[in-house]
Amino acid sequence: MKVAPDAPILFFDSGVGGLSILAPARAALPTAPIVYAADSAGFPYGTKSEAEIAARVPALLGRLVERYRPRLAVIACNTASTIALQHVRAALDIPVVGTVPAIKPAALLSKNRVFGVLGTDATVRQPYVDRLAAEHGADCTVLRHGSAALVQLAEAKLRGETLDPTVARNALAGLFDQPGGDRMDMVVLACTHFPLVEAELTEAARQPIRFVHGGDGIARRIAYLTRDQPWPAVPGPGIAIFTRLDEGVEALRPALAGYGLTRLETL
Ligand code: DGL
Repeated sequence: MKVAPDAPILFFDSGVGGLSILAPARAALPTAPIVYAADSAGFPYGTKSEAEIAARVPALLGRLVERYRPRLAVIACNTASTIALQHVRAALDIPVVGTVPAIKPAALLSKNRVFGVLGTDATVRQPYVDRLAAEHGADCTVLRHGSAALVQLAEAKLRGETLDPTVARNALAGLFDQPGGDRMDMVVLACTHFPLVEAELTEAARQPIRFVHGGDGIARRIAYLTRDQPWPAVPGPGIAIFTRLDEGVEALRPALAGYGLTRLETL
């Protein structure tokens, strides 16, 4: 299929988390037209049921694809990807890249053979995570913890608010306090919001921890899938779409502009 140079890449998340996936993708493909969609009306996903997410995400992506005609869609959300990736792929006729917990690199890199998976409640209970842990970390102790408060912390940070330091500490305590937690040397950031607060997590860690996530791998995957396609000569304004526009979204404007997203729209 012939792709027009101005056909965008669509990034999708419940909120601002997908920006941690957008950043390395923009670095790899600096003139790629970007449409970033946040389901602010459905946020947060991490405390929703599998059925709710499986119904909501493919329907929304269908509408977004119809409106913006992207060349490729990225589900920049672990919760949506681990639950709904197959449904979305079945519903769309463009390539769809998902975000799944970076368990493989953590298992490769963990010296103590103990690592954590920090995600949303919905993600850490997925059979998908069991499969990745069994396949790549069979000789490791894999600790899991879900934190909805850390998702809110990332949103607050991008709105420019003052942050409560106990949030990152408590999220990590959910891993450190489990049996084997004192030997944990790596943590998989299995929610795309969490790399946005990596500095706060590093600060809050009571022992040296390396954090890993999938952003760079996804950027390489996007570059590979679009390797023969044309791009504009210069970058244009990126579009940020919210399923609900409110004051919280208005407060995000400066942070969004830092990612090249200067036009705000609603779906
Ligand atoms: N950023 C999302 C993820 O990667 C979900 C955050 C939420 O809406 O709970 O899982």
